[in-house]
Amino acid sequence: MNSLQHRSAAIAVAVFGSILLTGCLSQKNNSTPTPPTTFVGSPPPAAKVFKLGFAQANSQDPWRQVQNASLKAAVAKYPDMTLEISDAHGDSNAQLGQVDNFITNKIDLLLISANEAAPLTPKVEEVFGKSIPVVLMERATTSDKYTTLVSGDNVKIGEMAGDFLVKALKGKGTYVEIMGIADATPTKDRSGGFHSKVDKEAGIKKIDSYVCNYKRDEAIKHMENLIQSKKQFDAIYAHNDEMALGAMIALKNAKMDPKKVIIIGIDGVQKEAIQAVLDGDMAATFKYPWLGEEAMKAAHDILLHKTVEKRITPDTEIVTKENAQDYMNRLPKM
Ligand code: FRU
Repeated sequence: MNSLQHRSAAIAVAVFGSILLTGCLSQKNNSTPTPPTTFVGSPPPAAKVFKLGFAQANSQDPWRQVQNASLKAAVAKYPDMTLEISDAHGDSNAQLGQVDNFITNKIDLLLISANEAAPLTPKVEEVFGKSIPVVLMERATTSDKYTTLVSGDNVKIGEMAGDFLVKALKGKGTYVEIMGIADATPTKDRSGGFHSKVDKEAGIKKIDSYVCNYKRDEAIKHMENLIQSKKQFDAIYAHNDEMALGAMIALKNAKMDPKKVIIIGIDGVQKEAIQAVLDGDMAATFKYPWLGEEAMKAAHDILLHKTVEKRITPDTEIVTKENAQDYMNRLPKM
């Protein structure tokens, strides 16, 4: 073959080859070949991956460790979302700075469990004002400038604890209230719900209340002082299990039998607390939902411009000796 014939043969092979290549890529077993797909310019944009930031109040708290784990497990189911969790270690100023960092890093949605309501409200309103969706995680602010509040119902939990105590005391006796962080919305609601039931009972008297900031060691300290005062009390209502366990430990340290005192807690995430209920050292606790699944679903819906309720309220559950073993078996392995 001369050079002209060579060149035309080479061109024929190239043309045929490209048809064959594009044709066979799309042609299956001699069916009518579909037209080859060719991208002009750059390939289509990759699907957007949304960046979420969760300003956590305090990752040292046992309940919050479960909450963080449940969020990480939930977000893993959404390939179009990533989640970064910051830890304020219970410091409202630190949390303010962490929210600013999230904004600088251009997150698409903010989740926040406000360490305290008043200091964090203006910051949440500022973020919401920038049209960044805000999901409040159980600890709320004092305004309605947010997208949705995902939270257990703390008033209902307080009411259930109050009803439980009235029944356990048979309408007559004395109690101590051990309270969480004063300016955290769950504290106000757990106390308000509880008193709406107990204050109606003329035979039931509060002998003292202490703000122990949801901390076990602070509850131990206050209970040691109460025990030393020799004041008599029949029951203890603690706003979380950490403080309920602290009260139980203080009684045991003073060689008093916690089984003779009605101790009520809230959270229902620690085996130590559920075991104390099983042993009769605590009379009851209440499941405080940890919110991972619900919060990630709400965030995804919001980012896809679906409407979400202003309030999303997973339910609670009382844990007593009767159902503690079953409840323990159902606790998530996190
Ligand atoms: C953890 C915690 C829980 C409590 C919740 C109230 O930080 O103290 O024990 O139920 O916060 O916001």
